[in-house]
Amino acid sequence: MADIGTDLQRAVSFLTQGDLVAIPTETVYGLAANAYDEAAVVKIFEAKNRPAFDPLIVHTHAVSQVSGIVREVPDAAYKLAERFWPGPLTLILPKAEHVPLLVTSGHDSVGVRIPNHSLTLDLLRQLPFPVAAPSANPFGYVSPTTAHHVQDQLGDRIPYVLDGGACEVGVESTILRLNGDEVEVLRLGGLALEDLQEVVQISKVQVKTSSSNPAAPGMLSSHYSPRKKVLLGNISENLQKTDPSRTGVISLQQIYSEVPREQQIQLSASGDLSEAARGLFSALRTLDAQPIDLILAEPMPEQGLGRAINDRLQRASFQS
Ligand code: TXA
Ligand code: MG
Repeated sequence: MADIGTDLQRAVSFLTQGDLVAIPTETVYGLAANAYDEAAVVKIFEAKNRPAFDPLIVHTHAVSQVSGIVREVPDAAYKLAERFWPGPLTLILPKAEHVPLLVTSGHDSVGVRIPNHSLTLDLLRQLPFPVAAPSANPFGYVSPTTAHHVQDQLGDRIPYVLDGGACEVGVESTILRLNGDEVEVLRLGGLALEDLQEVVQISKVQVKTSSSNPAAPGMLSSHYSPRKKVLLGNISENLQKTDPSRTGVISLQQIYSEVPREQQIQLSASGDLSEAARGLFSALRTLDAQPIDLILAEPMPEQGLGRAINDRLQRASFQS
């Protein structure tokens, strides 16, 4: 079983010798390896059971380091970096030659991010290389937002989980592709579109899904899924078609008297969508462990982090 702790030196030595370490970020926990060590990066794909077509995000601690990972930095990227890094934003940029194609799944571009978590920033400062890190969950399952979520699922496959507490944002980073100064959203995430639009003009929101090998890699229709079936829609209506004693509920605020209390989770009593995002993945995990057959969830308002929550709930509910 992986050890859990806050020992930076242990994390540094595992990563330096080519082993995996789970690291906290403000979005979700990542499964990190030396981005320039192909043998180490292979271990990520193996531990997660991740298909090779799904590229990894490279994490570093400073904008000054990004120029070593990418070939060119368009003006829009500087503007975004200045405003939002460290933070829940990933930029897809032309990769530098020495970034292994294994990391980018053969693409000529690489995803880069500076995560906003003090422990992980300290770790990254002590390493002479950036780390490639996908979310630290088995491929297709819900992303982890605590060290114990990682331990539960990948504990027997990795030596160490760096414990930075519960993730403050709770959904993965927003991913943007920059073609010159054209900005395209590839994944809705922890940075709200409204905030992005204060800095750049967004030309396209391209988060449409595919059920096999997607054009935007990793954007599979069915993803972020608990084992229990998820039905997204009007909860009151859907409750009439089910046995409430065997049903779970994820709502923003509303409590449903016909459903046992321990089988329902209200994501934010005050209707705060950032608080809702923070609790979403834990809620899916908690209900996954309940003696129920079905999870009913309702769409959130399409604003702020509500968009990212809806995207994750849609993928969790997708039936192929
Ligand atoms: O918040 C996050 O982004 C977390 C933390 C750990 O940083 N990481 C994360 O990684 O969510 P992952 O591997 O679960 O999702 C990364 C996604 C890929 O599935 C893919 O869609 C996109 O990032 N991506 C990465 N590199 C890309 C590239 N070169 N071109 C297009 N998409 C890319
Ligand atoms: Mg993931």
